[in-house]
Amino acid sequence: MPRYVGAIDQGTTGTRFMLFDHDGVVVGNAYRKHEQLYPSPGWVEHDPAEIWEKTKAVIERALSRAGVQPEELAAIGVTNQRETTLLWEQDSGRPIQNAIVWQDRRTTERIEQLRENGWEEKIRKKTGLEPDAYFSATKAEWLLENADPIEVEPPRHEDVRERAEKGEILFGTIDTWLIWNLTEEHVTDVTNASRTMLYDIRAGEWDEELLAEFSLPREILPEVRPSSDEETYGTTDPDGFLGAEVPVAGALGDQQAALFGQTCFTPGEAKNTYGTGSFFLMNTGEEAVDSEHGLLTTVAFQRSGEPIQYALEGSIFITGAAIEWLEDVDLIESPAQSEELARSVESTDGVYLVPAFTGLGAPHWDQRARGTIVGMTRGTRKEHLVRATIESIAYQTRDVAEAMAADADVEPEQLRVDGGAVKNNFLCGIQADIVDMEIVRPEVDETTALGAAYAAGLAVGYWEDLEELRENWRIDRTFEPGGDRREIERRYDRWQEAVDRAKGWAVD
Ligand code: G3P
Repeated sequence: MPRYVGAIDQGTTGTRFMLFDHDGVVVGNAYRKHEQLYPSPGWVEHDPAEIWEKTKAVIERALSRAGVQPEELAAIGVTNQRETTLLWEQDSGRPIQNAIVWQDRRTTERIEQLRENGWEEKIRKKTGLEPDAYFSATKAEWLLENADPIEVEPPRHEDVRERAEKGEILFGTIDTWLIWNLTEEHVTDVTNASRTMLYDIRAGEWDEELLAEFSLPREILPEVRPSSDEETYGTTDPDGFLGAEVPVAGALGDQQAALFGQTCFTPGEAKNTYGTGSFFLMNTGEEAVDSEHGLLTTVAFQRSGEPIQYALEGSIFITGAAIEWLEDVDLIESPAQSEELARSVESTDGVYLVPAFTGLGAPHWDQRARGTIVGMTRGTRKEHLVRATIESIAYQTRDVAEAMAADADVEPEQLRVDGGAVKNNFLCGIQADIVDMEIVRPEVDETTALGAAYAAGLAVGYWEDLEELRENWRIDRTFEPGGDRREIERRYDRWQEAVDRAKGWAVD
């Protein structure tokens, strides 16, 4: 009898493999970083071959550290950085070029052109998304148009688009790439499809009109499957690297996986994950709620034979990455030190830092916004800058929480939090004050991997039902809102003014 479920969590900065037991307790874990490539200003790429190599390495390492045999795995789930896009050759499995990462801004002008041509409303209606270079559609279009011809034997060059039209090139987000390498099946799950800007989230199908606009041949697209799939996507090859036949049965974009791992299964339940960026998702059930306040309507999850469940999402591009930036510029020695420095001053002394390094996502959607610091005086110390950076994470979360309250009929009573930065008690404390909501941190903070494991485990009957998963969710600590409300509101007003100053800065 298989005893564990494995989950691959392929994130923006690295790849993790975790093993969970029936109580949702972590029994094995390994992590490897991969290289971030910045070939031009605003461009961000990953090498897909490196990602696959590191995925195999962490699976092997986690299993051997835990002393677990691959045969003991009931299933594997996959969760991934969303939107990041790549093409590969079907016969050789060779990527056409590096993957274009979700943060990449190279297609900004194409998006502006779409807006000028009146596509905005239509894209919102069909896909639930705000037209932005963030999503996969313009990245795939760029790759098909700009990828170098492929060298083949006998030596000659083949045009990528021509080969794509013949069905010899495959498109995928990172889930698709990993599942294809694990099982040789070309599939994606419905949550990842919902981030491509090519998928009609209500009809539940690829949208012909959008495919035509981005000149994407249908042949390159993966089949869209439930996030927890009783049919399973495929099995690993017993003669492959794992040496066992394990079903790959669940996949979710990482933010949706965190929602699932936090057991936010009913409308009104919400989570915020603090990683490179922060992603605030609230379950809205079977209703895809249109946002009028700059949020995204997205797929939360789908189980086999059941209707699609939706969520409202506030995608904040830079939060944890702002702490990394503090380290890069030597204002702190380690992320942990940010808490100590921020606590050492009473306030930011009027300083606001807007970390719009890659533009602003929800609810502002300004591709040309850039990082901005306002309010500095001769007395400003690095402690103030560090505190302003941490506060910016909490303020950005308030921006999306406000939009959420305005858009939805149900308001979350509490916000469940996870991700690397929630170890920072200072952040959790001020977050509660600034959003005026209870912040709840669960015991397992790797809820993203847990969500993918749950999806895969449910599909193969390792877990019975959602109730069983809820019982696994245990609180580590609750942070109650407090502080001087008038002063908090005054500062929040100033924050909004600072955001206005960051907007529209980049000219090319
Ligand atoms: O939409 C992008 C998001 O999925 C990236 O998440 O945790 O890899 O930074 P993360």
